[in-house]
Amino acid sequence: MKIFPVVHFRRITIAAFLGIMGLATVVVVGCSEKKAPSFLQGQEIFKADCLACHGANGGGVLYPKTVLVNSALVTGDPNKVIAVILFGREGEGVMPGWYMNLSDQEVAAVATYIRQDWSNRAGPITPAMVAEFRAKGKKAAGK
Ligand code: HEC
Repeated sequence: MKIFPVVHFRRITIAAFLGIMGLATVVVVGCSEKKAPSFLQGQEIFKADCLACHGANGGGVLYPKTVLVNSALVTGDPNKVIAVILFGREGEGVMPGWYMNLSDQEVAAVATYIRQDWSNRAGPITPAMVAEFRAKGKKAAGK
């Protein structure tokens, strides 16, 4: 007889625990979509460092090559996106490299942002991917 209330209590505790875990999972998975912290951080970096040349809607300001929305490069191979942001590129105009000014976390955030805002839909870029590329690419780019 004594055992019953205890068992009952435990069941409720376990059910509540599972419920909370389920909720937490939904929140975490939901956040990794558009509102991940790195996306929002990337949006801030974009406004501060990229908007002047690339435009508020990624539509480009200076040359066609500054258009980021619907760009195959931006939504394609993550390493190519990381390469352009870290070490820049010279074509019709000059895209400055950010390897000295932005951390791995910041490059990952802004890269993730330009891959996921406007009508772009590509996977996120992690700080680890940037760190790996920075180590290799520095030598390759002679920086
Ligand atoms: C001073 C102007 C300027 C600033 C600031 C700038 N860019 Fe650029 N960016 C350019 C130019 C110009 C190009 C095209 C270069 C070329 O002609 O190849 C470019 C190209 C790119 C590309 C390649 C686009 C494609 O489809 O090939 C990416 C990605 C990019 N920039 C991201 C960024 C990010 C992220 C930032 C901010 C951290 C940034 N840029 C800041 C001028 C700029």
